[in-house]
Amino acid sequence: TMLPLLLLLLATAHGLASLPTLEAPVLASSSLGGQITTSTFVLEQPRCVFKNVQEDTVIWLVVADPKAVPDFDNSVEPGGPGREFQQFLNSSLAYMTLNTTILNYPCPKNPGDITVLRVGSETSCATDKARPTCNGPLPGPGPYQVKFLALNGSKPVAQTAWSKPITLRTAQAPGSISVLGSGHSAGMIALTSILSILFAILLAGLVAMLIWGLDASSGSSTFSKPEAVTVRRYNTHHVYDQPAARL
Ligand SMILES: *[C@@H]1O[C@H](CO)[C@@H](O)[C@H](O)[C@H]1NC(C)=O
Ligand SMILES: *[C@@H]1O[C@H](CO)[C@@H](O)[C@H](O)[C@H]1NC(C)=O
Ligand SMILES: *[C@@H]1O[C@H](CO)[C@@H](O)[C@H](O)[C@H]1NC(C)=O
Repeated sequence: TMLPLLLLLLATAHGLASLPTLEAPVLASSSLGGQITTSTFVLEQPRCVFKNVQEDTVIWLVVADPKAVPDFDNSVEPGGPGREFQQFLNSSLAYMTLNTTILNYPCPKNPGDITVLRVGSETSCATDKARPTCNGPLPGPGPYQVKFLALNGSKPVAQTAWSKPITLRTAQAPGSISVLGSGHSAGMIALTSILSILFAILLAGLVAMLIWGLDASSGSSTFSKPEAVTVRRYNTHHVYDQPAARL
C-alpha cells in the first residue's frame, strides 16, 4: 500500500503526474540485420503510441546516459544547453533528435511495413555545433536509454517510458579481428570449394552437352542430307498438284 503512494509522490515531484507515460521504445526486431552497430541502433517507430495528441505535436527522441534518467527534466529545450548532441557525454547527458510531427507515425497499414528509425545514422552534422539536434553517431558503446517525448511548442504533452539500457557493439580488438578474419577465411574457403565444385559440374555438363550436340548434329547430318536430297529429287520429279491429289 505504501509503494503506489511513494510512486505517486515521486511522479508528482518530477512533474510527471500530468504527463501520460506510454509504452517504452523497443529495439527493432532481430530479423532486420545490423540493428545494433558500434555507433547506431534501430528502434521501432512509435506507431499508434501517441493517440490523444494534436496533429501538429512534434515527437522527439531523447537519447540519454542512464545516469540522467532518474531526474530527467522534460522542459529543457531540444538542442539547448544540456541537450546538444555535440556535447553528449561531455557537458550534456542527453540529447534530443529525430523530431517529426505525429503525422509521420500513423498506425501501420500492413503488419509487414518497415517502420523503424536508425539512431546515429547522420554523420554529416556530427561535429556541426549549429545542428545540436543532429542524429549523429553515438560516441561509444553506452549503455543508453531512450524515450519519445511529445512537445506542443515547447510544452511536453506526452511521453513514453524509458527503454531498457541499450548497449552497442564494441570495436573488435586487433587479436579478435584476426580470429574473426581466420573464421571468415575458413568460410571463404568452404564457399570457394563449393562454388568450384559446382562450376566443375556445370562445365562438365556443358562439355557433355557440346559433345552430345556435335554427335547428334553430325549424326543427323548424315541422315538428313540424303533426305534433303530425296526431297529435292521428289520435288523436281513430280508435279506440285500430285501430293495434294494423294491426300
Ligand atoms: C568537452 O567539453 C569541453 C568544454 O566545453 C571541451 O573543451 C572538450 O573538448 C569537450 N570534449 C569532447 C570530447 O567533446
Ligand atoms: C527539427 O528541429 C529542428 C531544430 O529545432 C528544426 O530546425 C527542424 O525544422 C525540425 N524538423 C522537423 C521535421 O520538425
Ligand atoms: C498546444 O499549444 C497551443 C498554443 O500554445 C494551445 O492553444 C493548445 O491548447 C495546446 N494543445 C495541447 C494539446 O496542449
